[in-house]
Amino acid sequence: MKVKTTYVCQNCGMQSPKWVGKCSGCGEWNTYVEELVEKKSNKKLSSSSNGSLSKPLKIREITTEKQERFSACNNELNRVLGGGIVPGSLILIGGEPGIGKSTLVLQLALKMNKNILYVSGEESVQQIKLRATRLGENGSECLLVSETSLEKILLHLENVKPDILVVDSIQTIATESIESATGSVSQIRECTSRILRYAKENEVAVLLIGHITKDGHIAGPKILEHMVDTVLQFEGDQNYMYRILRSVKNRFGSTSEIGIYEMQNSGLREVENPSELLLSDRDDMLSGGAVAATIEGARPILIEVQALVSSAAYGTPQRSATGFDLRRLNMLLAVLEKRVGFRLAVKDVFLNIAGGIKVNDPAIDLAVVMSVLSSNVDIAIPRNICFAGEVGLSGEIRSVSKIEQRIVEAEKLGFNTIYIPKNNLKGIDAKKYKINVYQAGKVAEVFKSLFS
Ligand code: TYD
Ligand code: MG
Repeated sequence: MKVKTTYVCQNCGMQSPKWVGKCSGCGEWNTYVEELVEKKSNKKLSSSSNGSLSKPLKIREITTEKQERFSACNNELNRVLGGGIVPGSLILIGGEPGIGKSTLVLQLALKMNKNILYVSGEESVQQIKLRATRLGENGSECLLVSETSLEKILLHLENVKPDILVVDSIQTIATESIESATGSVSQIRECTSRILRYAKENEVAVLLIGHITKDGHIAGPKILEHMVDTVLQFEGDQNYMYRILRSVKNRFGSTSEIGIYEMQNSGLREVENPSELLLSDRDDMLSGGAVAATIEGARPILIEVQALVSSAAYGTPQRSATGFDLRRLNMLLAVLEKRVGFRLAVKDVFLNIAGGIKVNDPAIDLAVVMSVLSSNVDIAIPRNICFAGEVGLSGEIRSVSKIEQRIVEAEKLGFNTIYIPKNNLKGIDAKKYKINVYQAGKVAEVFKSLFS
């Protein structure tokens, strides 16, 4: 018999009989991979679909008692999930290799007082045991199995009947009903949907681990993200110890919360008060440092920005940024050049966000600009000053969200002055705060008040 194949977009799952360069579904390039078509003869597959027919119910007749969440025994994760794990929900945890996904889920599995089945397709049970020893917890009842076949995993599920299933990782699981290679879109899609069906029918919560591709998407299909209830992104710079758990999608809660962890020798430690940690090792009075009052998720975090500006050694000046978008840095430098009159075009500029944390909040702009200027004039910004404000193309300081939370956090951490955008405090009296609130309209104004 001739083997039938089709081309499948590894990003969105779109199919085509011929190879194409650009996917008409999602617009990505070079994502088509040849995959074998499902075996049609396998009749067993359809047996589950002719099971008992569920009856449509009136919405007021549906009870939600069983839906109560249970705690993940981890405050940061509970916060990100919106209060705990919902039984029967599918939670996908994505992240780059080595970031700590396996560590996170194992830590949960060891701590939670539930019937847990931990399936690893990547590590042997001995390796997991070693990791558990490292995490310092050994008396756990958690069941481990090293398995990559979906059919066998489903059998284990029937035997164990766990409350929670952990799958590390979905890309290593394969079903016999499809002939494509492990990790291909068809495999991932089929395995996920079978696990999904089992989870919903039996009210088992599932934690799925998914790898991430170079450009930051969960490897393989976007469709995976549509199938699950919650998508969490575990991120951070491997050279630093901080890890951020961000919720990208959440059917049972908001997506604005983040969880912060610190990777230690004995596992991930929850960071309850990130600002204090991030600001703790600041040197006194060095030029180029500025503190930004940012909001990550729903939490205010004060972060130090460091800049180093020096004369370019070669013709083309170098610009580099860690934890900050390089294009945005270039834009801010252009604003300083054109609108505020600083000759930065001939300077090397290096920018670093302390702790290796990636900040998405535009309110960090003002601190970035001020740290660059501070390094440029070589005058330190006093350590009891912080900033919040977005910088626009004409050098104006634009309003930012949740300004009161930022001010309160800065005040709590003992700052003396905070620079904020003019008109941001609509209707609120700045005098009600103990901290000095300096409302500035232009970058040049802040520069003058700090350095002259
Ligand atoms: P891991 O959970 O294996 O990452 P992932 O599953 O996302 O690929 O964790 C990888 C890194 O974490 C590894 O480089 C070692 C480090 N680590 C610690 O620093 N402390 C620990 O207690 C553990 C278990 C791991
Ligand atoms: Mg792993």
